[in-house]
Amino acid sequence: MNERISGGKELHMPTSLANTKPVDVHGDSILRGGTSKLRRANPPFVQIEITTKCNFKCFYCAGRHMKQENMPWERFVKVLEKLDALPHTVSLQGEGEPTAHPEFWPMVDRLIALGHQPYIITNASLIDVRQAALKFQSIGVSVDTLDETEAHRIGRYKLHNVLRRVHELIAAMGASRIIVHTVSYGQDIEPVKRFVRSLGAKHLIQPIQTKPDYAKNYANEATVTFWRHKNHCRYLELPLMRYFDVTGRESPCCYIKDMSVFDTAERLKTELASGKVPNACVGCREIASPL
Ligand SMILES: C[S@@+](CC[C@H](N)C(=O)[O-])C[C@H]1O[C@@H](n2cnc3c(N)ncnc32)[C@H](O)[C@@H]1O
Ligand code: SF4
Ligand code: SF4
Repeated sequence: MNERISGGKELHMPTSLANTKPVDVHGDSILRGGTSKLRRANPPFVQIEITTKCNFKCFYCAGRHMKQENMPWERFVKVLEKLDALPHTVSLQGEGEPTAHPEFWPMVDRLIALGHQPYIITNASLIDVRQAALKFQSIGVSVDTLDETEAHRIGRYKLHNVLRRVHELIAAMGASRIIVHTVSYGQDIEPVKRFVRSLGAKHLIQPIQTKPDYAKNYANEATVTFWRHKNHCRYLELPLMRYFDVTGRESPCCYIKDMSVFDTAERLKTELASGKVPNACVGCREIASPL
């Protein structure tokens, strides 16, 4: 379950960091990738799910089973008003493709105008490379395979187009500003590793999520029924992240996809400390290891 981040060389991350690594589903990766500095960062990393819509259909994506909507501009502004004045790293993605939002670039511009640092992970099919180079210090791109047929099979369409954009991003931004994200779901990832190494970019490999919120959509690929859980979570203790879903609702991490079982972060922390695993947290890599 270890994920690796590399830039020419590979760096093995401790399993305890599993979520940033893992499901970065969302910018989380930047936490895990950036690790120590960001883990201690104050203010916390902010993630805003500006859309659940996407032009791809990855089989493992929770977003494909969610209501398909864009965050309206007014809601986005209200979320930003909840942040304090300190500069935050703000990632604009959740379970959709951020660049598919019609107001994506104005949103990026608003973040910059407020002094925040924008970040995204993108499927790289729609990204405006010139603007990305101007406005992002670094950017995450998802590549799971170099095989066009396999990419299409898993729902990552037109791989040749994605790879062309990756090359363009590297030419415009430099390899050190690009983080390639790969979900390990059982495919041969050696070719992707070699590819990223040849580019000189960073590589973040995360195992497919086994938390039931996600895994219910692909039970055959990642079924874990029994876990051993820890009684504390760094996302609740630091706190590490402020996550706003597409409705504007806030939670302490990006891993709670069934918001009907989430009440408050304080409640999660209290329950965990008392030895009860909150429903929202069952199976989360931050606290769970398979038995
Ligand atoms: C949800 S996507 C959103 C951003 C963009 N659409 C993309 O695919 O890069 C963010 C990252 O989460 C990863 N991801 C999505 N579902 C996952 C899952 N079930 N397990 C592990 N990683 C997942 C994606 O591969 C991607 O790297
Ligand atoms: S590209 Fe991203 S948002 Fe779209 S289906 Fe794949 S993982 Fe989900
Ligand atoms: S789901 Fe629960 S255990 Fe997992 S990161 Fe979020 S708060 Fe922590």
